[in-house]
Amino acid sequence: MKKILITGAAGFLGSHLCDRFIKEGYKVFGMDNFITGDAKNIAHLSNNPDFEFIDHDVTKHIDFEGDLDYILHFASPASPIDYLKIPIQTLKVGSLGTHNLLGLAKAKDARILIASTSEIYGDPLVHPQTEDYYGNVNTIGPRGVYDEAKRFQESITMAYHTFHGVETRIVRIFNTYGPRMRLNDGRVIPAFMGQALRGEDLTVFGDGSQTRSFCYVDDQVEGIYRLLLSDYSHPVNIGNPHEISIRDFAEEIIKLTGTTQKVIYKDLPVNDPMQRQPDITLAKKILGWEPKVDRAEGMKITFDYFKSLTEDELYKSEHKDFTGFIK
Ligand SMILES: NC(=O)c1ccc[n+]([C@@H]2O[C@H](COP(=O)([O-])OP(=O)(O)OC[C@H]3O[C@@H](n4cnc5c(N)ncnc54)[C@H](O)[C@@H]3O)[C@@H](O)[C@H]2O)c1
Repeated sequence: MKKILITGAAGFLGSHLCDRFIKEGYKVFGMDNFITGDAKNIAHLSNNPDFEFIDHDVTKHIDFEGDLDYILHFASPASPIDYLKIPIQTLKVGSLGTHNLLGLAKAKDARILIASTSEIYGDPLVHPQTEDYYGNVNTIGPRGVYDEAKRFQESITMAYHTFHGVETRIVRIFNTYGPRMRLNDGRVIPAFMGQALRGEDLTVFGDGSQTRSFCYVDDQVEGIYRLLLSDYSHPVNIGNPHEISIRDFAEEIIKLTGTTQKVIYKDLPVNDPMQRQPDITLAKKILGWEPKVDRAEGMKITFDYFKSLTEDELYKSEHKDFTGFIK
């Protein structure tokens, strides 16, 4: 039985990856310190003999007994609200945490895949974004703590690959959504759906002409799975290229949820990227991968998940009135 360590296991993507690798017959070790995750996301695995949970902060030294075949490093705050609230931890998990995990991969002779992001392209001047675009990031802007941590993460990963011969993979994840996202993490999908469910107006920042493209979580997990098992060590974009403006997307959500509320407009936050769209030519070529779930289907499944939350979850909201970033 192959053994895999997944960091960020109690988070949105990490928990779906745990499910997928268990389904594929792996022994999964999930590691998390719950800084932005939720035990609820992995509660269904608590009695599964193929799953073991390790409560640990990956920025601290990692002792792991026994052998490991693979590591997926997904621990990191991922929403702008989170990384504005905990900027130092965000920088540390991308730098010190990644260093620790690369060291572990080297010691165990394991293959490691790290979760990078479309944010390394910053507010891109090239559209859509191909892997050979270097990006346009403001190092000292509010998003810099996340973007630069992820850029460093890519550099140190390549250095371990080149100088220590560690088998590394780098996925550049574009906006991904689905069940188990946090309702109030400030990202646009949970934000709109939460507002619709609470009977509030939908908040659009700026004039809503900025675009995003949304990838359903099952498609993302499939891309990551294929990349891990591939022999390609340079970064690969995984995301859905179907682009939509935030204004049009708000209208789609109004139709889907049946809310009678309207769209309201607020000031655009600093360094909010105007366009985000992956070029997935490389993923198609080397992984034979492309997204399968269309937005209408994925959004319906996601809205059904949010509808199933309790009143407490719907109204408990550290960030409900946050008017900073939207992703
Ligand atoms: N969801 C997306 O659209 C998206 C896009 C680009 C990149 N990513 C990347 O994917 C990964 C997962 O994102 P997500 O959306 O699931 O976020 P998430 O916040 O739901 O999950 C992150 C998990 O990492 C854990 N974590 C954070 N710091 C830790 C530490 N020091 N030690 C141990 N655990 C720690 C959190 O508690 C949480 O459970 C992140 O690395 C993120 O940068 C996600």
